[in-house]
Amino acid sequence: MAALQNDTFLRALNREATPYTPVWMMRQAGRYLPEYRESRKTAGSFLDLCKNPHFATEVTLQPLDRYPLLDASILFSDILTLPDAMGLGLYFEEGEGPKFERTLREEAEIKALHVPDMAKLQYVFDAVTQIRKTINGRVPLIGFSGSPWTLATYMVEGKGGTDFLNTKKMAYARPDLLHHILETNTQTVIQYLNAQIAAGAQAVMIFDSWGGALSHNAYIEFSLNYMQKIVAGLTKNAEGKQVPSIVFTKGGALWLEAQANIGADALGLDWTVDIGQARKRVGNQAALQGNLDPAILLSTPEAIEKEVASILASYGHGHGHVFNLGHGITQWTPPENAAAMLEAVRKHSQQYHQ
Ligand code: CP3
Repeated sequence: MAALQNDTFLRALNREATPYTPVWMMRQAGRYLPEYRESRKTAGSFLDLCKNPHFATEVTLQPLDRYPLLDASILFSDILTLPDAMGLGLYFEEGEGPKFERTLREEAEIKALHVPDMAKLQYVFDAVTQIRKTINGRVPLIGFSGSPWTLATYMVEGKGGTDFLNTKKMAYARPDLLHHILETNTQTVIQYLNAQIAAGAQAVMIFDSWGGALSHNAYIEFSLNYMQKIVAGLTKNAEGKQVPSIVFTKGGALWLEAQANIGADALGLDWTVDIGQARKRVGNQAALQGNLDPAILLSTPEAIEKEVASILASYGHGHGHVFNLGHGITQWTPPENAAAMLEAVRKHSQQYHQ
């Protein structure tokens, strides 16, 4: 593999010095880009893009080609490839979120759940290797997975966009059943992320998109404890190095002190928290990634620059900040507004790294 030309992202995750604040955008390859919509049309569907390493590579590189100021790339895939490999039957209906043919609610079905054969996910590992080769060292590649809790919400509910009542009911009425799902997901995620690392992922991120829906105690018991197990289970890469990990609970800033103790190198933040206060609460235990409200990218370049400058000022001097959105970029974002954000990060961040 080619030597890395831009290591600012990896250095920031390790809280080492960088000349500016590195930046990438959650969902940076996606529907707001006309070239993505074109590739999706050629491939047939979103899942056809994910399952074909050639297309996954093509769309992963689209934002890098368009925006030279990006400091990281992320594997084009989805967190729901895991429940799909576990036999739940993932599909997408046009204009709607993800759905599953089967749900996990009956005791017998839950007890039959097991870690899938990673060979079913070979297309993901092949995509990682092909992307690494094609990026040719320009920026690092992030691998990722959903958190055990967030995956469980889709497995139990059978779709997204719900209030998680079936999953929460199970948490309180039959915690043993939910723990069986979460433990199986945890072992699956460990194998999945380690296979991505072996295939060439240079950092890994765990998306706990729905952890913020839980109560304090339930978050620790049903989400955070399992993410801690995953971080502890990550293995070294082919060069014998530990790759950095990022844990992101959307709506999770209430629990930053607890998150700071699980051994992750960085914590993702959504836009609800002031990043300067988050930095004080986390101290030297982790780097921070975030946290511009993606809705701001629907506004104007002037408003975007002002918000970017305000987040950078709040974080203040020193290292350990990866700039990002607080959640995925929306499909209605004008691509030139994403460019305005990236330019503002570069322009305003250098003063804090002197
Ligand atoms: O960041 C990237 O560019 C990498 C690609 C990526 C996708 N999904 C592509 C995608 C990543 C990291 C994900 C993670 C993911 N998937 C999460 C966690 C992050 C988050 O947003 O909270 C979740 C909850 C999912 C499940 C999922 N996949 C949903 C809820 C949806 C539909 C929502 C929507 O935006 O339409 C998807 C589909 C999806 N995943 C798309 C993309 C580009 C849109 C598919 C399309 O082209 O129509």
